[in-house]
Amino acid sequence: MSTLVVINGSYRKDGITAKCLEAVSKKIAKQHNMAIVNFFIDDNIKACNNCGPGNCVIGCHFSDQLQLIANEIKKADRVLIGSPVYLDFPTPKLLSFLSRLNCYAESTNREFFRDKRIHIHANGYCSGTKAVIGILMRACEMLGFTIEGRSTTEYIEIWKDKKIRGGMNSKDICLLE
Ligand SMILES: Cc1cc2nc3c(=O)[nH]c(=O)nc-3n(C[C@H](O)[C@H](O)[C@H](O)COP(=O)(O)O)c2cc1C
Repeated sequence: MSTLVVINGSYRKDGITAKCLEAVSKKIAKQHNMAIVNFFIDDNIKACNNCGPGNCVIGCHFSDQLQLIANEIKKADRVLIGSPVYLDFPTPKLLSFLSRLNCYAESTNREFFRDKRIHIHANGYCSGTKAVIGILMRACEMLGFTIEGRSTTEYIEIWKDKKIRGGMNSKDICLLE
């Protein structure tokens, strides 16, 4: 049975991203008859330090969770990555992780991820999921993945607080009838 590797880029292990990824991964696994392998990215995963031309090696000089996840991706047919929206960006840890995958792409003339189909998910409180999907699609394209699907989840509640957003506060909002 082929494998779907699910990579959660949230800082909350049992947060909304985890719930969304569980639903999306079950759907993909059922559709393609796959086994699911779940990863929650370590909070302290390193970003690429750009060791310099000629110094970058497949598998990276820094040993951490990267190698474990990359080895599973190597065996898998499909990958699902997910991130909450952080100020219209994916989380820093997911970007760190993706930057580290570059050593596999660079050292293999971008062949390493060529046959891997990647699904991308983003979820946010009220905005930014499309921005996050766009950023992740471009990064995955650079790495050489085949982009297969994407999904977003946004949930909105009427503001109950007085936080300023975009120069406005809750008194400034207009609700559409
Ligand atoms: C630092 C930070 C920045 C955020 N920025 C946004 C944002 O720009 N737009 C948005 O809709 N939600 C934003 N959120 C809310 C999260 O994206 C949202 O609550 C998400 O579903 C949380 O997923 P999690 O439970 O896996 O952490 C932000 C949250 C944090 C902690």
